Amino acid sequence: MSLYSWLASKGPSGFGYGSTAEEVTAGLDLTGKTVLVTGCNSGLGLETMRVLALRGAHVIGTARTVEKARAAAASVQGSAEGVACELEDPASVRACIATVLAMGRPLDAVICNAGIMALPRRETVLGLERQFFTNHVGHFILVTGLLDALTETGRVVVLSSAAHRNAPREGIRFDDLGADKSYQAWTAYGQSKFANLLFAKELGRRFAGTRRTANAVHPGVIRTNLGRHMNPMAMAVFGLAGPLVLKSIPEGAATQCYAAVHPDAGAINQKYLADSNVARPRADAEDEALARKLWEVTEGLVARLL
Ligand SMILES: NC(=O)c1ccc[n+]([C@@H]2O[C@H](COP(=O)([O-])OP(=O)(O)OC[C@H]3O[C@@H](n4cnc5c(N)ncnc54)[C@H](OP(=O)(O)O)[C@@H]3O)[C@@H](O)[C@H]2O)c1
Repeated sequence: MSLYSWLASKGPSGFGYGSTAEEVTAGLDLTGKTVLVTGCNSGLGLETMRVLALRGAHVIGTARTVEKARAAAASVQGSAEGVACELEDPASVRACIATVLAMGRPLDAVICNAGIMALPRRETVLGLERQFFTNHVGHFILVTGLLDALTETGRVVVLSSAAHRNAPREGIRFDDLGADKSYQAWTAYGQSKFANLLFAKELGRRFAGTRRTANAVHPGVIRTNLGRHMNPMAMAVFGLAGPLVLKSIPEGAATQCYAAVHPDAGAINQKYLADSNVARPRADAEDEALARKLWEVTEGLVARLL
């Protein structure tokens, strides 16, 4: 198969690598639906908010500050509002939960999109490695705090990454969540994205017997602000090779939009999606016992933080 035909090929969903967020939501009327998107001021989160609002959904976009969130919401056509949610600050996440619950709007989907990648040096938040905290723990607090607002058919979509494959051999280093013993940028990012997968897996298991779902997605490789911590040389190579190896932002936002609102995705649960189709993650990311252990450990950590 040529590169062109591979890029143009579609999977069983009817969508594929080159499908955009507008294409996977074409013809959908999301009027009356409410979707919360974290990290709405940049990259995939902003495009997700734009397209879901364009299709008629009310989008609650969160960002580190209320100013950033409101500016992003004001930049899109349709119904959107901004709320502060600094994922590294449990008090900010709790305030976001209280604000959203007070709105009294049932949530049809929550998209855990915000994230940071490959910090060159070890950094910690409340004793935990920063990517693990931001990408996993912050979203754990947010989602578990919003469960009462999720509709009967509500969907939780968690941004993981193909980079979950770079997680340590054991998946999660439970004995070194602060990365005190060792730190490697891509391993730490991979661990946080592996945690995103396990979180969706366990949440989906806890939804068993309901029509709620939880899934993880890999959006593709897209040049966004996510690369801000990357070596400038690597970024330059990315820039040159971009059109060949990278998705555009509209293509990158497709899978999370598909998982969050497409009618055909409503019965997909506990899965990993890429290119708007169910895909296979690293084998141990399907390990239900590991997923349950991460949930219990995170619950314990959060109980001490709150
Ligand atoms: N781009 C890719 O190739 C790629 C590949 C695989 C997976 N992903 C995943 O896709 C998601 C979106 O990434 P992106 O590419 O759109 O990156 P991006 O443009 O850098 O956007 C990331 C968003 O997360 C927010 N964020 C970061 N730290 C936060 C914190 N502590 N509290 C609240 N918000 C925070 C950022 O806010 P600020 O702007 O204020 O920092 C920004 O809004 C991430 O989860 C990423 O891991 C991306």
